[in-house]
Amino acid sequence: MLSVTGLEAGYGAIRAVSGIDLEVPAGGFVALLGANGAGKSTALRSIAGIHRPVGGSIRLLGEEISRLRLHQVVRRGLAFVPEGRMVVAPLSVEDNLRLSAFAGRGDQAALLERVYGLFPRLAERRRQVAGLMSGGEQQMLAIGRALMTAPAMLVLDEPSMGLAPAIVDVVFDAIVALHGAGQSILLVEQNAAIALSVCDDAYVMKRGAIVAHGAPAVLRGSAEIAEAYLG
Ligand SMILES: Nc1ncnc2c1ncn2[C@@H]1O[C@H](COP(=O)(O)OP(=O)(O)OP(=O)(O)O)[C@@H](O)[C@H]1O
Ligand SMILES: [Mg+2]
Repeated sequence: MLSVTGLEAGYGAIRAVSGIDLEVPAGGFVALLGANGAGKSTALRSIAGIHRPVGGSIRLLGEEISRLRLHQVVRRGLAFVPEGRMVVAPLSVEDNLRLSAFAGRGDQAALLERVYGLFPRLAERRRQVAGLMSGGEQQMLAIGRALMTAPAMLVLDEPSMGLAPAIVDVVFDAIVALHGAGQSILLVEQNAAIALSVCDDAYVMKRGAIVAHGAPAVLRGSAEIAEAYLG
């Protein structure tokens, strides 16, 4: 469903991603882990069409997307929730959701009901201005916006960032429920413990390269994980 081979990306002389391969099968829940600065966000932004890669191939549902821009990638069924959430601060929760639906396909009312069913908190706050909500509520909204495009592939960058543990649990319960309903997910996380407790396959990045890949039960507590985070 999503297949990345030999992906290379950087910033001028900085090679932030040096030839990574990864695969998300249909219905899969794959985590991409790694310490600060490993290159996770650069890889995701390249996949989502925000950052132009300098090499490699990115295939979504069999189609090459590595030369496409974000709006073209969204139309082909990939939704990206960026680091830092990026909701439209002056707009209400519901306007944020409706605005996002313009980029996608599907029945807007049904999609809205699905988002509100997943995050009842958003339904309660549908008239609230997005910028005045808590970090956790904004993260729910950012995920809700992505779901309004009815994505075949949901790509999340550090949804736990800056959130209290109780809120992280609420957000991850929703992500797990989405996966349970068949949603394909690629999740970037610095918090390996959380990601490995929910995903079904994981890759570990260090300094732009994949240094480990395997089932969460195998990677949990492994030397590669420890090395990637401490070394
Ligand atoms: N816009 C940019 N311009 C120049 N260098 C950048 C830019 N964005 C990232 N980098 C560099 O690229 C490397 C990888 O950064 P990236 O943000 O992809 O890492 P990350 O794994 O997402 O880290 P974090 O866990 O902190 O989010 C780092 O050395 C970083 O300093
Ligand atoms: Mg990042």
